[in-house]
Amino acid sequence: MNDQWPISFLTSVILLLILVSSSFAQTTISQNLIEFKHKDKIIRNLPLAELERYLTKQTLKIFEVHEKKERTYQVYSATALFDFIFGSDWRAAEEIVFICEDQFQPSIPVTKFLQYNAYFAFASADNHPFTLKNLLQNNEEVHLGPLYLVWDNLSSKELQYEGAVDMPYQIIGIELTTFSARFPAIFPPNDTSAEVQRGFLHFRKHCFACHTINGQGSGKATELNYPISVTEYIQPTYLKLWIDNPTAIRLNSKMLPLAADIPDRDQVIDEIIAYLTAMSRVKPQSKTMHIQHNNQSDDN
Ligand code: HEC
Repeated sequence: MNDQWPISFLTSVILLLILVSSSFAQTTISQNLIEFKHKDKIIRNLPLAELERYLTKQTLKIFEVHEKKERTYQVYSATALFDFIFGSDWRAAEEIVFICEDQFQPSIPVTKFLQYNAYFAFASADNHPFTLKNLLQNNEEVHLGPLYLVWDNLSSKELQYEGAVDMPYQIIGIELTTFSARFPAIFPPNDTSAEVQRGFLHFRKHCFACHTINGQGSGKATELNYPISVTEYIQPTYLKLWIDNPTAIRLNSKMLPLAADIPDRDQVIDEIIAYLTAMSRVKPQSKTMHIQHNNQSDDN
């Protein structure tokens, strides 16, 4: 009898440990921490549930572009959240980067938040779980929490045309930043054409949330420039087709086609390719990713 108790003692310790660690894991997940940064510095970590103490809940019906139908969400106003976290200074800032659990990392100019009404959804308000079926991405069923950025788009065709680019879900980090300081290696040389510069803006809006250029950007999809640019090994017609409709080249591609309804879509694709071509001349010098722009002197 006596030499048996250590075993049952051990078993109960192990059981206890398992119980404690699993409930710990559950609380960390259900805490749904959101990290807020201002220019690389963490300024606040807030559990989702705490937002309720500072912000007013609202109900918002939108045209859900991922599902191509109307959905209703429980939301907080984005400007109210930014005011609360960053103070009113954010209005004069340049860019807001959203970090998502699935590594999607869109960067949205502050001006868009001043022009249109954005909201952070945190739950459904239509007896539907807080998930959606993403028709744009292989009909994947995705969960949307902790936060999902939506726009009051029912009366704005412009917002609907943009598709899902500026609607990140699974947001776990929000960062106020200056684009050129955060991502210096993706800028085209200053002396490039207006077409390339426009292509750069389209690329930032439609591609950069998933891809990196010279190692900078989102880790969700592949690097497109270094060491060999996609413009160097994909024939132009196929590159164009790829951006227009990735599944026409690879079955089950996880890439979003460029939004179907944006104005001058064909020209937008050409300009993106012009940007990528210009970037094929702007590469880090070595594997250490030390960036040197071709048109700049060393002491810049
Ligand atoms: C939602 C994320 C997402 C967005 C947005 C996106 N891509 Fe992709 N892209 C991918 C993924 C994932 C792949 C990898 C292959 C696949 O799944 O099809 C890929 C592959 C590619 C490839 C092929 C690379 C190779 O070597 O085979 C090119 C070129 C490309 N993307 C360009 C673009 C451009 C240009 C844009 C903007 C118009 C863009 N992507 C927007 C996710 C994305």
